Amino acid sequence: MENLQQRSSGTSYNMVTKEILEKLRFICGEKFVVNDDESCTIYGSDETEDLLFKPEVIVKPSDANEISAILKLANTHFIPVTPRGAGTGLSGGALPVHGGIILSTERLNKIIDIDDKNLQCTVETGVINQHLRDAVEAKGLFYPPDPASRGSCFIGGNLAECSGGPKAVKYGVTKDYVLNCEVVLPTGEIIWTGANVLKNSTGYNLTQLMIGSEGTLGIITKVVLKLIPLPTETLLMLIPFRSAEKACEAVSAVFRAGITPSAMEFMERDAIEFVMKFTDVKVPLKEDHIAHLLIEVDGNNKDVLFKDCEKISEVMYQHDCDEVMFAESAQQKADLWRARRAVGEAVKSHSVYKEEDTVVPRASLPLLLAGVKKIGDKYGFRSVCYGHAGDGNLHVNIIKDGMTDEEWNRKLPLGIQEIFELCVSLNGTISGEHGIGWVQKNYMSIRFSEGEIALQKGIKKLFDPNNILNPSKIFA
Ligand code: LAC
Ligand code: ZN
Repeated sequence: MENLQQRSSGTSYNMVTKEILEKLRFICGEKFVVNDDESCTIYGSDETEDLLFKPEVIVKPSDANEISAILKLANTHFIPVTPRGAGTGLSGGALPVHGGIILSTERLNKIIDIDDKNLQCTVETGVINQHLRDAVEAKGLFYPPDPASRGSCFIGGNLAECSGGPKAVKYGVTKDYVLNCEVVLPTGEIIWTGANVLKNSTGYNLTQLMIGSEGTLGIITKVVLKLIPLPTETLLMLIPFRSAEKACEAVSAVFRAGITPSAMEFMERDAIEFVMKFTDVKVPLKEDHIAHLLIEVDGNNKDVLFKDCEKISEVMYQHDCDEVMFAESAQQKADLWRARRAVGEAVKSHSVYKEEDTVVPRASLPLLLAGVKKIGDKYGFRSVCYGHAGDGNLHVNIIKDGMTDEEWNRKLPLGIQEIFELCVSLNGTISGEHGIGWVQKNYMSIRFSEGEIALQKGIKKLFDPNNILNPSKIFA
């Protein structure tokens, strides 16, 4: 990896000197300021491809006050600070592309309060998504946003990218659950963005501005989240298709038939084959099965759910599916979900790849898929497509396989450009839930005009006049 070590050129920031290190140690404590080479390598990459940008130092503050002191110091000395959660991001948002300080939120890991009278919880942002789900489930409550990395990703990273996941199709994405945030601004000021209420029309909505801002406007240290009652029953169906486009067509037809599944995922055959090599999960796969839909319904009344599944099956058969299969046990359900969540990692383990997070209005999914394949044929690359079909959100994994480095480097950006242009021509956009970060920023002008980008940059300038917080992200 060493040879991939990079540092972005352009702005010249100051280096982290001995004196700065001393001050950081004074703020966080000796133990929580590290700069050995091994740590810098670990904290220099996330789950985005094979990129590595080593920071000069990693700090692990314990609360908003320490973060405030760190940001004041960095602001005064013009040192870049890159916030980092669990490092599971897929757009390079946590890469310290100018070196400087990595500010890890790993010690902000307390669930402060679960208020089961108001169905809210207050948590620090270094809490792992799954830990939160388990804690609220123990009280019969539900926090729906469930990115594939939920076993390790932090709530703070989920907020930064506005993560989604399979449940988003019925329950919405991270932004739909955030009521209020404690944020440390790049200047060191600590603010709360909203109020702990379900309705709020009081001034500009700074809470929502923070969500999806990829750690460029402030560091969210606490968050008040909305919870809902936990549904008691789920049914899970796996439906094989002989045509991937027919599978995509069936997706919008289900909603038109009056049903909102609690998950509606699409997996191409290749995705399933990669997963079966990568895990021990077995999925029945006939020779002519080109793609699958994984559809879940949830609620509190099994009879109602069975009726929903009957209706869904009817729609599926109208779209020329093979036999609809039901997960018969909790174990089968868990295995199918484990398979679905492993697709990204399974593809990554197979080849150098590039993941794109395309999204279009749901009914345009067949056009998106067909277009992606056509672009792949034009440039000579294979793509493995899967994702949250019910949301029109298709993850496109472009595989390097046998392409030479020269071909890959030349053709890939052209192919991605065309895929994104296709998304926008279908009234979609270039990221649904992974963010823009470092690797998608050169494509922002496909979605936004110069004026629209200038307006967004103006917001960044207002929050971070010296451009020290997660610089060179989102905008080219
Ligand atoms: C998934 C991640 C990659 O859906 O978003 O598997
Ligand atoms: Zn996803």
